[in-house]
Amino acid sequence: MSQTSAAAVLIPVALMLVMAALQLPAAATPPPAQQAPRMIGQPNCSTTCGNVSVPYPFGFGPSRCYWPGLNLTCDTSHGPPQLLLGDGTLRVTDIFLRNATVRVMRAGLILNATGNLTSNGWNVPFGRGFTEHAYYLSRANELVVSGCSVVATLLADIGEKIPSRIIAGCASCSTINDSGDGSTVVRGLRMVDNLENKYCTGTIGCCQAPFTVGGVPNSVQAGLLYSSHAAEQRLLPATVFVAEEGWCDENILLLRANGLEEAPILLDWSVTRGLPQHKGCDDGIGRMPCKSERSSCLYDGQVGGFTCQCDDGYDGNPYLAGGCQDIDECKLPHEESRCFGECINSIGSMDCRCPHGTYGNPVIKGGCFKICRTE
Ligand SMILES: *[C@@H]1O[C@H](CO)[C@@H](O)[C@H](O)[C@H]1NC(C)=O
Ligand SMILES: *[C@@H]1O[C@H](CO)[C@@H](O)[C@H](O)[C@H]1NC(C)=O
Ligand SMILES: *[C@@H]1O[C@H](CO)[C@@H](O)[C@H](O)[C@H]1NC(C)=O
Ligand SMILES: *[C@@H]1O[C@H](CO)[C@@H](O)[C@H](O)[C@H]1NC(C)=O
Ligand SMILES: *[C@@H]1O[C@H](CO)[C@@H](O)[C@H](O)[C@H]1NC(C)=O
Ligand SMILES: *[C@@H]1O[C@H](CO)[C@@H](O)[C@H](O)[C@H]1NC(C)=O
Ligand SMILES: *[C@@H]1O[C@H](CO)[C@@H](O)[C@H](O)[C@H]1NC(C)=O
Repeated sequence: MSQTSAAAVLIPVALMLVMAALQLPAAATPPPAQQAPRMIGQPNCSTTCGNVSVPYPFGFGPSRCYWPGLNLTCDTSHGPPQLLLGDGTLRVTDIFLRNATVRVMRAGLILNATGNLTSNGWNVPFGRGFTEHAYYLSRANELVVSGCSVVATLLADIGEKIPSRIIAGCASCSTINDSGDGSTVVRGLRMVDNLENKYCTGTIGCCQAPFTVGGVPNSVQAGLLYSSHAAEQRLLPATVFVAEEGWCDENILLLRANGLEEAPILLDWSVTRGLPQHKGCDDGIGRMPCKSERSSCLYDGQVGGFTCQCDDGYDGNPYLAGGCQDIDECKLPHEESRCFGECINSIGSMDCRCPHGTYGNPVIKGGCFKICRTE
């Protein structure tokens, strides 16, 4: 072997080694977006209060930390930190960006007329605890009423120019059956179609009603239906409360044992302030709240509110510049990514193939087969 040919072999090998050394780390690690910590809030702003995560547009402290109208209070003056909304009567436990809701705990009953059933009716302010236009009682709540021959309705404003209307209502125990032997059998009148496994199922003097729409709650109106069995009406306490749909059904034992101290309710929220005159998301208005390039804007004309969504294939905080980041679909379980073959993530999407040496359909389980060699 001559010296020239040895060099001709060695130089490309050395070059390849250098190139491999330079390229390997980049090729072996996922795209840098995956490594960057997920942004939650504005720079130098607290994004947790106790164990509650507070993503922008929500925030507390200096005004640069939240969108106008979406400021919260992190109260550390009484024991563990509490994240409070509005006038402080509502405690925030979860903030969801994806479906624009917050879960808040609200103290106790709206109406407790136990032992005071002589009145012709009650009109109790809901005492919603917030004055900002940013919040609405979500449709995913329900009205729960106990008592005998008690009818209760919840009134709410559902749009700026639409007068207050009933968004939920039911009557509890409107049937009293005098069995004739001195004992009284009372039955609840059900106004919900599917009462399987509901809190009031099989419970005397209880009814629960879904909301027909969401809205800004006004008041609860309740009264007694005419009954010739006024005495029986006093048998059962007359109470009214609102809770997140399904919560009573899951906490029925707790409620039976302790009564209702507080209940979660869901509020819809949107960005309603701090924007110039607009006709919805058009004309660049949408980019003002929806700062992520990979997000889109939704406008609810009825409430005049904006919300933002990350585009398909992206996840994160659409209210922050660079907040929506690529989802690495390949890290999801096969059932979710719908890829059972070799998965290659790309920005905003992914590629799914059958592994080398196999063929078939990689998006179904066991869909890739070995190529048989017959030679
Ligand atoms: C955040 O705080 C650091 C240190 O206090 C400061 O240097 C930096 O300028 C602040 N950044 C912003 C955006 O306020
Ligand atoms: C947050 O803390 C409260 C009590 O301080 C606890 O009941 C709740 O389960 C915690 N939530 C989470 C998500 O850890
Ligand atoms: C939010 O800010 C407004 C105006 O500064 C203030 O009146 C309100 O009390 C604040 N809300 C909370 C929950 O801190
Ligand atoms: C929003 O999402 C959360 C978490 O997935 C869920 O618990 C809540 O019920 C949703 N809100 C509505 C109004 O469906
Ligand atoms: C009974 O109800 C009436 C009418 O709502 C109210 O004025 C009165 O204070 C109530 N009495 C008691 C003891 O709660
Ligand atoms: C009332 O009770 C009697 C005897 O228990 C029963 O036969 C009757 O069907 C009941 N009526 C109603 C309306 O429930
Ligand atoms: C309702 O009021 C009665 C009488 O004041 C009281 O005994 C009862 O504990 C109250 N119920 C609840 C669930 O707060």
